[in-house]
Amino acid sequence: MSNNFEAIIRGIRKSFNTKEFIPLHVPQFWGKEKENLLDTIDSTFVSSVGAFVNKVEEQMTDLTKTAKAAAVVNGTAGLQVSLRIAGVNPGDEVLTQALTFVATANSIAYNHASPVFIDVDKDTMGLSPIALKNFLEEFGDLREEGCFNKKTNKRIAACMPMHTFGFMCRIDEIVAICDDWEIPVVEDAAEALGSSYKGISAGKFGQTGVFSFNGNKIITAGGGGVIVSREPEFAEKAKYLTTTAKVPHKWEYVHQEMGYNFRMPNLNAALLSAQLDNFDHYKSSKAELYLEYKALFEGSNVELVSIPKDTNWNYWLMSACFEDKKERDVFLEKSNESGIMTRPIWQLMYRLPMYENCQKDEQLNAEFLEQRIVNMPSSARK
Ligand SMILES: Cc1ncc(COP(=O)(O)O)c(C=O)c1O
Repeated sequence: MSNNFEAIIRGIRKSFNTKEFIPLHVPQFWGKEKENLLDTIDSTFVSSVGAFVNKVEEQMTDLTKTAKAAAVVNGTAGLQVSLRIAGVNPGDEVLTQALTFVATANSIAYNHASPVFIDVDKDTMGLSPIALKNFLEEFGDLREEGCFNKKTNKRIAACMPMHTFGFMCRIDEIVAICDDWEIPVVEDAAEALGSSYKGISAGKFGQTGVFSFNGNKIITAGGGGVIVSREPEFAEKAKYLTTTAKVPHKWEYVHQEMGYNFRMPNLNAALLSAQLDNFDHYKSSKAELYLEYKALFEGSNVELVSIPKDTNWNYWLMSACFEDKKERDVFLEKSNESGIMTRPIWQLMYRLPMYENCQKDEQLNAEFLEQRIVNMPSSARK
C-alpha cells in the first residue's frame, strides 16, 4: 500500500516540477494586477468606492449571467447579508449541510438563527435533495407565516446549500423542493466561481449566490466576496445594506435601518478585476492538472474524486477518496512529511462546540466522506 502512496507523491511532485514545498492552493498573478493596483493609488480611490468596484460587479454579472452583483468585503459577510435579505430573523432556522467550511454555519449564527444540518450526496459532496425532501416531509409544517419545524416550532427561514470544492450540488432539485415549502434558497457558491450545472452558472439558482475571493480560491481579491442575483432587486438590496443602508442624498447622512460596512475596497477590486480578466486561463490550467492527476491515480487503488454528472467544474480543489480513515491518515502523514501539503476535508459542523446541539438528520454520507476525503495541491500552473 505505501509503495502506492509513494508513486502518487512522486507524481504530484512531477506535476509541479519542483523540489520545494508544494502548497495546497496559491494565487498566481498573470495579468494587469500591478498596473491596476498602481492606478488605484494614482487615482487616490483606494477605499470603498471606485471604478474597479463597478467594473468587478459588471465582470461578475457577465461571468455568471446574472442581472446584478454587489462586491463585498468577503464571502462570509456576503452570506450573512444574503440570509438577512432572505428574511432570516433571530430565532429562525436555516437548513444547510454539516460538511462545509465553518463560515457557512457562522453566517447563519451571525443572524442569530440556528443551522439545521441535512446530509450531502456522496458524489457531489453538496446538500442532498433526497435528504432535504425527507427532512421536510418529517418535520416541515407549512403555515400562513411560512414553513415551521414541527420539532422545534421555529420558522425555517432559508436553505443554504454549498457547492463543495466547486462541484455543483443538485441545485435545481433543491430549489424546486424549497419552492414547494416556500423556503428561499441562498447559494453558498464561495468555492464555485466558473462552475455551472446543466449549463447554468453557480449563483444563479438561488435568490442570491455568494462567491469568495479569499487568497485560496481559484482567483483572489486578496480578500473579498461578490453577491449575485438574477433578480436585480436582491443585489440592489445587498448593495444598500452593505453600504451602511445609506439612502442616497447629496450631503445628508440618511440611514433608515441598521446596515453594515461590508463594501469591497477599490484596491481589492483592482486586483480582482485583473484576475477576472484571466479567469479562463486559470480554469484551463487547472483542468490540465486534473487530467495529470487522473492518469496518476488510475494506476493506484486510491480514487481521485471524479466530476459529478451535469457539472461543468471550475477544478478549484481536487480531492482523493481513501478506503478508510486509517489509509487516509497514512497518506496525510507521508505527503505532508515529504513537503506536499494535503489536508482532510472539514470536520462536520456538529462536531464543533458552538453547533453541537443543532438538529441534524442521519448524516451517513457526510460521515463517510469526513473519514476519507483528502484535498490535493491544486494551484494553477503557468
Ligand atoms: C464554503 C465556503 N463558504 C464561505 C466561505 C467564506 O468566504 P471568505 O473567506 O471570503 O469569507 C468560504 C471560504 O473561505 C468557503 O469555502
